[in-house]
Amino acid sequence: MRAVIVEAKGTPGRLTEVDEATVLDGPVELDVLYSSYNFKDGLAVAGTGGIVRNWPLIPGIDIVGRVTRSAVPEWSDGDLVVLNGDGIGERLNGGFATRARVRPDALVRLPEGMSPEHAAAIGTAGFTAMIGVLKLVDAGVGPDDGQVLVTGAAGGVGSIAIALLAARGYHVTASSGRIAAEGDYLTRLGADDLLDRHELSDEAGKPLQKGRWAAAYDTVGSTTLANVLAQTRYGGTVVCCGMAQGIDLPTTVMPFILRDVTLTGANSVEAPLSLRQRAWDALATDLATDLLDGMTTTIGLADTLPYAQQILTGKVRGRTVVDVNH
Ligand SMILES: NC(=O)c1ccc[n+]([C@@H]2O[C@H](COP(=O)([O-])OP(=O)(O)OC[C@H]3O[C@@H](n4cnc5c(N)ncnc54)[C@H](OP(=O)(O)O)[C@@H]3O)[C@@H](O)[C@H]2O)c1
Repeated sequence: MRAVIVEAKGTPGRLTEVDEATVLDGPVELDVLYSSYNFKDGLAVAGTGGIVRNWPLIPGIDIVGRVTRSAVPEWSDGDLVVLNGDGIGERLNGGFATRARVRPDALVRLPEGMSPEHAAAIGTAGFTAMIGVLKLVDAGVGPDDGQVLVTGAAGGVGSIAIALLAARGYHVTASSGRIAAEGDYLTRLGADDLLDRHELSDEAGKPLQKGRWAAAYDTVGSTTLANVLAQTRYGGTVVCCGMAQGIDLPTTVMPFILRDVTLTGANSVEAPLSLRQRAWDALATDLATDLLDGMTTTIGLADTLPYAQQILTGKVRGRTVVDVNH
């Protein structure tokens, strides 16, 4: 099999031929059809960021594959499956390879009518975007409540979050550092207002600012999230899934005690099977494939190595599918 392998701590990945039986281990065997490229994969391939926790390791936190053999009764030869997170690409071998052996705990059947390419284009980013959208829905945020802010808007999670929120009728403000280049793109996805990210990211403002957002989906963390919390209206909910700006959060208790703001997380890695199923069912019905196609770039397995710097420096727009057989 062909695979990208990170051999040791702090070293970048390299593309190589390996003997499957000596590298892979797990009860469900797959031909990998596609993987996808997430921010985390960039860190793993570059050998930075503490993502990889076992060496040698195949990166790639997403797998869309076809079962070739299964030691568990739930799966059989020919089944098309999706796997996001659950430790792959971090401590278990992941999707940047032509073959995989995985545990069944987090495997989801490819939704009916969804192509393997589209499932990979959605990937962890889209899955996480949907988990966050469901959190807002479950918190009772309605489309008529006011503007919903999405930060890191031109990135993978942000792009899909905008499309999903707009499809449900929410009014979306997209915060991006690339409005000049990507403003039209963000508007096509469904944003009805655009905000230069520097207004949020450059310095933590007052603990309470003018209430602008009924809710927010933050992929950026740090000063940006602090300002988002300070600008969230009474009773609003803020979902935090990422740290593209930083892991710090220079905030105060004021948004919580004076505005009853709720800050909640979204985590794709540990998500239980029931949530995975709910999110993928919703993705199959809510996400327009023309929007998904318009935000997707496809690369081959060898391209995953130089691509790390692209995603880590914020140059990638939307989603990237890895066609592991090319
Ligand atoms: N919790 C989970 O399970 C989970 C799942 C998936 C992703 N994540 C995390 O969510 C974040 C986004 O993931 P992704 O796959 O969407 O990554 P991505 O495609 O690289 O997008 C990140 C976006 O963040 C913005 N950004 C980058 N650097 C920034 C900075 N210094 N200050 C402010 N904004 C900045 C950029 O958007 P603009 O160019 O539009 O400004 C960039 O496109 C990452 O931190 C990732 O690790 C978490």
